[in-house]
Amino acid sequence: MRSHYCTDLNETNVGQDVVLMGWANNHRDHGGIVFIDLRDKTGLIQLVCDPEDSEQAHKLADSVRDEFVLIAKGKVRFRGEGLVNPRLKTGAIEIVVHELIIENKAAPLPFVIGDKNVGEETRLRYRYLELRDPDMYETFRLRSKAAIAARNILDANGFLEVETPILTKSTPEGARDYLVPSRVHSGEFYALPQSPQLFKQLLMVGGFDRYFQIAKCFRDEDLRADRQPEFTQIDVEMSFCNQEDVIKVAEDLLVAMFAACGHEIKPPFNRITYNHAMEFYGCDKPDLRYDLKMVDVIDIFERCTNEIFTNIAKHPHKNRIKALKVPGADLVFSKREMQSFEEFVRKFGAHGLGYFQLKEDGLKGPLIKFFSEEDIQLIIERTDLKVGDVVFFGAGDKKTVLDYMGRFRIFIAEHEKMNLIDKDRFEFVWVVDFPMFEVEDGRVKALHHPFTMPKDTDKENVEEIESIAYDIVLNGTELGGGSIRIHKSEVQEEVFKLLGIEEEEAKEKFGFLLDALKFGAPPHGGFAIGFDRLMMLISKKSSIRDVIAFPKTQKASCILTKAPSAVDNNQLRDLHIRLREQTKA
Ligand code: AMO
Repeated sequence: MRSHYCTDLNETNVGQDVVLMGWANNHRDHGGIVFIDLRDKTGLIQLVCDPEDSEQAHKLADSVRDEFVLIAKGKVRFRGEGLVNPRLKTGAIEIVVHELIIENKAAPLPFVIGDKNVGEETRLRYRYLELRDPDMYETFRLRSKAAIAARNILDANGFLEVETPILTKSTPEGARDYLVPSRVHSGEFYALPQSPQLFKQLLMVGGFDRYFQIAKCFRDEDLRADRQPEFTQIDVEMSFCNQEDVIKVAEDLLVAMFAACGHEIKPPFNRITYNHAMEFYGCDKPDLRYDLKMVDVIDIFERCTNEIFTNIAKHPHKNRIKALKVPGADLVFSKREMQSFEEFVRKFGAHGLGYFQLKEDGLKGPLIKFFSEEDIQLIIERTDLKVGDVVFFGAGDKKTVLDYMGRFRIFIAEHEKMNLIDKDRFEFVWVVDFPMFEVEDGRVKALHHPFTMPKDTDKENVEEIESIAYDIVLNGTELGGGSIRIHKSEVQEEVFKLLGIEEEEAKEKFGFLLDALKFGAPPHGGFAIGFDRLMMLISKKSSIRDVIAFPKTQKASCILTKAPSAVDNNQLRDLHIRLREQTKA
């Protein structure tokens, strides 16, 4: 029986007999004494195998290689004077081994456990070896604690954990579906859920009142550092509630999960409307750890003597001229660097990036000649410019300007010469009052999903219709989102119509939902938090793959098991599938 984990031991255990189990992290022979660093999930401790203490242990220790599985029985003692290793938690003590057992050998490893400079392909192929690193274990320990805290707080607040189907029908969340062919129903497919959205709404119609699930979701979309094809949501739904009730549940949940990971966060979190987020920060998930805020200067530019700007300024509904003040930028960036910023924004559709610098002797910059003295003064006042500051300008159509100025804001904050981001801060913000629809290439799409409650549908322009939808944003990442749902079938039918979904198609795809809404559906709403993203931010990892035990690569494959993979013809025949020649594996 194991008596302790390695790092459970400290000076207070000196003199005790212990039994430890783990892996040989490394071994050294110093003048006939073999030292082995034994590692388990908690960390390392030094084993000393001296022939004077045990011939058996010393003899066996000689044959130990890295990653052999060991059981060591021995006594805890202080390390000698001057031999303390301050880098080890157990660096003041060691185990004098009396009996050593080799439980299993290990072939030479493809990399040293804990080496952070190994390529991702190798790390993922041997993920089980990477997981042996106690740092990894710590990440997953936190993940487990956070999941348990979520269950506990939701349970305490009357939420019921219910599992919803994985083999199901498409739930639209804006991505492609993963499809599973049916053997029994020739030519038919299940879809893996993009979220449990429709089932959780049906649970509300079923009178369960408060539901949650730690749910696996599947989305076939382009992958990024914060996206996986298969990911986990903490999914919540409640009946007879308004937006405030839902937000309160979400905040309590986040507080509990952060506390479980050792962080105190303090709700209520700030709120900002979608429109303000776009106008001030150029995106719907602003990072508010730093205070760069865009200011509208279109009225001032309308009076300047440069036609490019006055033409843009004539159409304030569809165009924008935005100013972004960067404090102290004139003191750290060279002229060449300032000009190189233009190359950055050009990648996102900008025609240029003008700027003014406030020097001791007044405002400078290539555009200055186009402005009157009063307007120059007005720009200084509106952007609250101080000596050493630079104000950058973006002008053009609204969507493009907000997008590239928003990206530029992040670029500047992350720039090594500015370093505006306090990496230890957790800055939450609720983005509320999302538009219900967006129009892309002439097609109307739901900004969240089609089951979101619109505030009112009789606006002439569908893009002006707002919804009761909210996102929770943490440090510039969309952590979760939700909405109050449509609970009346006639409203749902109208929204489908606005989305260009014909009656027949709506019946075929969502008939079960429309039916359910006709049988006394209560008002309801909810949200889902991206659990992997949350853990990525809490553990300060740069990729979501670091907090998923067996993640997929950027190309959506599992290198470890080699999935996806070709299947044999018999299996395909059973599923009534014939591959086209060119796609055959
Ligand atoms: P939404 O689509 O916004 O809402 O998803 C909720 C949260 O899930 C996380 N997420 C992802 N995480 C990792 N990889 C992905 N590919 C991925 N896609 C989404 C994000 C996101 O904020 N049914 C609604 C919720 C609701 O309305 O109640 C939904 O799924 O953190």
